[in-house]
Amino acid sequence: MLVSASCTTNNKAPSSEGTPYNAKVDSLMNLMTLQEKIGQTVMYSGGWSVTGPTVSSNNKKFIKEGAVGAMLNVYSVKGTRELQRLAVEETRLGIPLLFGYDVIHGFKTIFPINLGLAASWDLEDIEKGSRIAAEEASAEGIHWTFAPMVDIARDPRWGRISEGAGEDVYLGSEIAKAYVKGFQGDDLSKHNTILACAKHFVGYGAAQAGRDYHTVNMGYDELRNVYLPPFKAAVDVGVETFMTAFNEVNGVPATGNKFIFRDVLRDEWGFKGFVVTDYTAINELVEHGFAEDEKHATELAIKAGIDQDMMSSANRLYLEALVNEGKVDVKLIDDACRRILLAKYKLGLFEDPYRYCDEQREKEMVYKPEFLEAARQTAAMCSVLLKNEDKALPLDKNETIALIGPLARDKENILGNWAAAGDRKGRAISVYQGIQEYLSDSKIVFAKGCNIEGEDQSGFDQAIKAARKADKVVMVMGEDYDMSGEAASRTNIKLPGRQTDLIKAIRKAVPNKAIILVLMNGRPLDLSEEDTLADAILETWFPGTSGGYGVADVLFGAYNPSGKLPVTFPRTLGQIPIYYNMKNTGRPIPPDDPKEDYKSNYIDVPNTPLYPFGHGLSYTTFEYGNLELSGETIGMSDTLTASVTVTNTGDYDGHEVVQLYIHDKVGSITRPVKELKGFKKIFLEKGQSKRVSFELSPKDLEFYNNEAFVIEPGAFEIAIKGTSDFDFEHSFNLE
Ligand code: BGC
Repeated sequence: MLVSASCTTNNKAPSSEGTPYNAKVDSLMNLMTLQEKIGQTVMYSGGWSVTGPTVSSNNKKFIKEGAVGAMLNVYSVKGTRELQRLAVEETRLGIPLLFGYDVIHGFKTIFPINLGLAASWDLEDIEKGSRIAAEEASAEGIHWTFAPMVDIARDPRWGRISEGAGEDVYLGSEIAKAYVKGFQGDDLSKHNTILACAKHFVGYGAAQAGRDYHTVNMGYDELRNVYLPPFKAAVDVGVETFMTAFNEVNGVPATGNKFIFRDVLRDEWGFKGFVVTDYTAINELVEHGFAEDEKHATELAIKAGIDQDMMSSANRLYLEALVNEGKVDVKLIDDACRRILLAKYKLGLFEDPYRYCDEQREKEMVYKPEFLEAARQTAAMCSVLLKNEDKALPLDKNETIALIGPLARDKENILGNWAAAGDRKGRAISVYQGIQEYLSDSKIVFAKGCNIEGEDQSGFDQAIKAARKADKVVMVMGEDYDMSGEAASRTNIKLPGRQTDLIKAIRKAVPNKAIILVLMNGRPLDLSEEDTLADAILETWFPGTSGGYGVADVLFGAYNPSGKLPVTFPRTLGQIPIYYNMKNTGRPIPPDDPKEDYKSNYIDVPNTPLYPFGHGLSYTTFEYGNLELSGETIGMSDTLTASVTVTNTGDYDGHEVVQLYIHDKVGSITRPVKELKGFKKIFLEKGQSKRVSFELSPKDLEFYNNEAFVIEPGAFEIAIKGTSDFDFEHSFNLE
């Protein structure tokens, strides 16, 4: 029986309240048995692109029994239609399934990895990229992406730093909103919009020692001021789902954590969507030492406010017994089931369970030329020019280039980790192919030189010969794609293998030729040696399907680089954690005597990073001048306007990311030395000036002081710059 016949709707309610559907959900739930309600809270994997153990042999049987509400890792019209048919036509109530997938930085057309996307500081472009991902994924039967990952991450050892927006709260929160808007669009009932999922709630990026899944312990001030805000931002723009984190937070694993799910997410923030666990996270409560056994874990999770169980089988096996034994109130199951059904109504699945299963649309949507072109532009916008001595870049079309390195012709790693349904077997454009658009083959001398990993140096001689034949040397190097992402923490953040030795060998062989290092990597690397060897360094992250084109556009100056680091690059691993908005300590280093004794410094390296947050060069130069404030003092109901003139003083037109920072000088708890509070990306022709203004309200100065959210009167420093590396010169007072 298909309940949807009596539950058709006009599908016009993208709001997270879902009010127009409540009556429909209620009438459906009146027909449901307890087992069927529990079924909605269960998710299994289809066994494609698995990220852990599966129980796939029984999946179809469970679906037919109405014991499954959602599937992950199944896509394509054919694949999803077949399973949807089982749910709709072969179960008692015909409730459609929800298909979720990790659409993280593109579905088939892969965009740069998320850390790279953050480096564009371009919210419009990030929204557009996730819109494209939603178009492609929805055309292949996907209703729901497990993205965005909005975990703040300040430890480059942690492999999943590649999936987020980096170290900063403000930038991370703005980017979280852009992703959600892009995926969910303005009307969830359209067949090209998908549910977004803010993950991993919460603190996952703060894993001790940068080891994935490791313990998280932090003060509630840090939790509220740094790790929670991007999630709150996602709620503010109507994100429909949340995913739990694997880690514990202050002794209580997230998946059993009432405080974060019931008190904060539901009661404080008013979140109305549903919460899914991470993969097998309910069962992991046992290994954490928080639950006696899986049954106990099931009880703790539902009580903590978790609605859907991804892959633990816990809800399916134990929830009914827990209700019968009086340990779990059936109301908790009703609530969870109701929230999941509501999402299905909003997507219009009761009106047409096959609305995402249109073969024609699937053919038209995937790898559309305009998507590939957008990915090319984004790849260019995400590249960060870390260094450019003596104008080594841009390249000149008349020069001969030695193209060296294990990633120069790569079409596999270039997609980066979590590349969804992306094709690693040849569809991507390599840097070599991108350069071929600018240079004839006779001007490109290629030599791989070495592998990404391993000790083999047998290719060095050929690489040296190539360098000798060319005017300039372009070396494309970095990490394997699976050296970042989940379960890919590193204790060494240098270029792997013999790559640095190859740069040294080339430097020695051609001491006077420009060496341009093009990097692909999923984390900040320790580039201290490379910085002394290369004339120019272009960080391209993993730039995606059209990556080679985008990178070549930057190398040849068709796109003037405008990316800025969303995360600090340390000088050495020993400086970690290092991030721009640290605290001052009681013994900061005096600027005029960095080596003074008994100050908060290292005896072997400076405190400063190699490349700071917000840093990124252009082929042109920008000057900042004439900062003006609308007043020296503002009251609690006023707004401060801060303006600056930015001038393009170089030889190229270009974009600049203008960044507003403040420093709250005295607080009831100490405040960071710098906090980003705004940014604007502007375009200036050479010679052009623009006045750029920001509005700052007292609410922007709010923080949690371990007791409450407060806005405290006092003195603030303020600056508008193109990097976080500066000294404040201006201030204002809040009264
Ligand atoms: C990851 C999640 C992901 C899930 C489903 C887990 O291992 O932590 O981020 O969404 O798998 O693939």
